[in-house]
Amino acid sequence: MIRVEDIHMHFGGIRAVDGASIEIAKGSITGLIGPNGAGKTTLFNVIAGHYTPTSGRVFLDGEDITGLPPHALFHKGLLRTFQIAHEFSTLTVRDNLMMVPGSQKGEKLWDVLLRPGEIRRQEAEIRAKADEVIEFLQISQVADELAGNLSGGQKKLLELGRTMMVDAKIVFLDEVGAGVNRTLLNTIGDAILRLNRERGYTFCMIEHDMDFIGRLCDPVIVMAEGKVLAQGTVDEMKSDERVIEAYLGTGLKNKKVEA
Ligand SMILES: Nc1ncnc2c1ncn2[C@@H]1O[C@H](COP(=O)(O)OP(=O)(O)OP(=O)(O)O)[C@@H](O)[C@H]1O
Ligand SMILES: [Mg+2]
Repeated sequence: MIRVEDIHMHFGGIRAVDGASIEIAKGSITGLIGPNGAGKTTLFNVIAGHYTPTSGRVFLDGEDITGLPPHALFHKGLLRTFQIAHEFSTLTVRDNLMMVPGSQKGEKLWDVLLRPGEIRRQEAEIRAKADEVIEFLQISQVADELAGNLSGGQKKLLELGRTMMVDAKIVFLDEVGAGVNRTLLNTIGDAILRLNRERGYTFCMIEHDMDFIGRLCDPVIVMAEGKVLAQGTVDEMKSDERVIEAYLGTGLKNKKVEA
């Protein structure tokens, strides 16, 4: 579904991504792991259109999408969440969901003046959609809470919820489980699995928690120093010499949630 060919992303002398090629199969939940500074987020930023790579190409279903801006990719069903949650803190959880671009059509003054009935109907539809997402993620107890008052884990759930307001095909999750308590981590994991199985979402997720990865991801791609080091099942990666070496000093096997 996604083919990344020999991406380089250099910032001055820093080779954040240094010739990475990966493939993400339709219907998979692909894990992307690697030590801090390996280039994982930068690679996401290139795929999701935040950066134009120094060189290399990105294909979505065979179409070259290199350098397309995030909103254009959004309309193609390619969404991402951020390592640091991007909620509107002074809006409620429900309003945050309703704000997702693309879910509302009647924002032109023209439409508001000439077709108020249509706008009201659309708004009711978006509200119903938001309520469906709230129910799916089991966050109805905080639906009317200001997003700024949510716990870190609940904010991550809201990030996931935002991807459900439109018809996503592939979602890139950047450490959606980081800093999240066990209970909420299970809720997030369940939601990802259900979205994958019941709604056909393909996922690519950056994570550090190996238990979480092991539960969700196959395959797992390992990056280090801007390059792809290895790929396989989580168990293969845990016992791969190259991977262990890349993590030396950071303790792959004991590595748990980090902020
Ligand atoms: N905009 C930028 N300008 C300069 N250097 C950058 C920029 N973005 C990332 N880097 C550098 O590129 C390297 C890769 O960073 P990146 O954030 O992609 O790593 P990561 O694998 O996501 O790490 P982490 O697990 O800590 O989130 C790091 O050395 C980082 O300092
Ligand atoms: Mg990162």
